[in-house]
Amino acid sequence: MSRDIIIDTDPGQDDAVAILLALASPELNVLGITCVAGNVPLARTTYNARQICELAGRADLNVFAGCDSPMGRGLVTAEHVHGETGLDGAFLPEPHMPLQSQHAVDYIIETLRQAAPKSITLCPLGPLTNIGTALQNAPDIAKNIAQIVLMGGAYFEVGNITPAAEFNIFVDPEAAQIVFNSGIDLVVAPLDVTHKALTSKAWIADLRAENSQACSTIAGWVDFFERFDSDKYGSQGAPLHDPCVIAYLIAPELFSGRHINVEIETQSELTRGMTVADWWGVTDRTANALFLENIDAPGYFNLITQRVASL
Ligand code: RIB
Ligand code: CA
Repeated sequence: MSRDIIIDTDPGQDDAVAILLALASPELNVLGITCVAGNVPLARTTYNARQICELAGRADLNVFAGCDSPMGRGLVTAEHVHGETGLDGAFLPEPHMPLQSQHAVDYIIETLRQAAPKSITLCPLGPLTNIGTALQNAPDIAKNIAQIVLMGGAYFEVGNITPAAEFNIFVDPEAAQIVFNSGIDLVVAPLDVTHKALTSKAWIADLRAENSQACSTIAGWVDFFERFDSDKYGSQGAPLHDPCVIAYLIAPELFSGRHINVEIETQSELTRGMTVADWWGVTDRTANALFLENIDAPGYFNLITQRVASL
């Protein structure tokens, strides 16, 4: 029995790998892809999402445009990391599949209202604007969400867009606060775990050795975007953030973490978007998230190669 998921995304090369991994994995049934402004503006994330679906041979999928700016702030984008298109590093043809006319937030609400209790898992890979807006507009949908498995936040790894905050949470801290306070079963893949999943030249070579357009496309993307993190952190390779969400659903045994309380800073401009993780249990605040810490990185990259090569 495959698991019904909705992927909410701001592609972004790492989002793209996550989407390809999901579409290549029979354990998951992707009901729809909802796009949000984040790495690049909304018009670009919806274009990119359709390019990725067609690369996977899934022009049948429904792609929706969501919020073009955060719930209470101006949009911050990350072209400096992902390039002007958000998918720099590999060429993909212009997509022909349609963009759905329904707003992504309305799609999320309608789909969840029609679903059985706790039957759909949400997989946010970007700022939480669509999810936060859906929960604010229709609090009743929470009961039909089985789990939210998201990429975002940081604790020991500190921030990547400011000294205190990770990009997805920084862009829309108000939306993140709604999600983290929702009481929904939450699994968080923060920088603490994604920074242990570093790409490598060997992995890129493995991808290129596959007779697979999808794998060679990923190799081009990784070649491009790893330069930013390698220069910044002096590391060999770059963290492949978003596929951690999908890999957790497919092979949770690749990960470990701790069920703790995580609060979101929304008041201070200095620490806006910080995920204040009570890792050592020093408060009496209720645990609200499984905060992932460790990953079997070789197992993770082998899973991606093996699955995507099957597309
Ligand atoms: O901080 C990393 C996150 O921000 C990833 O989801 C990446 O795609 C960007 O959205
Ligand atoms: Ca993303």
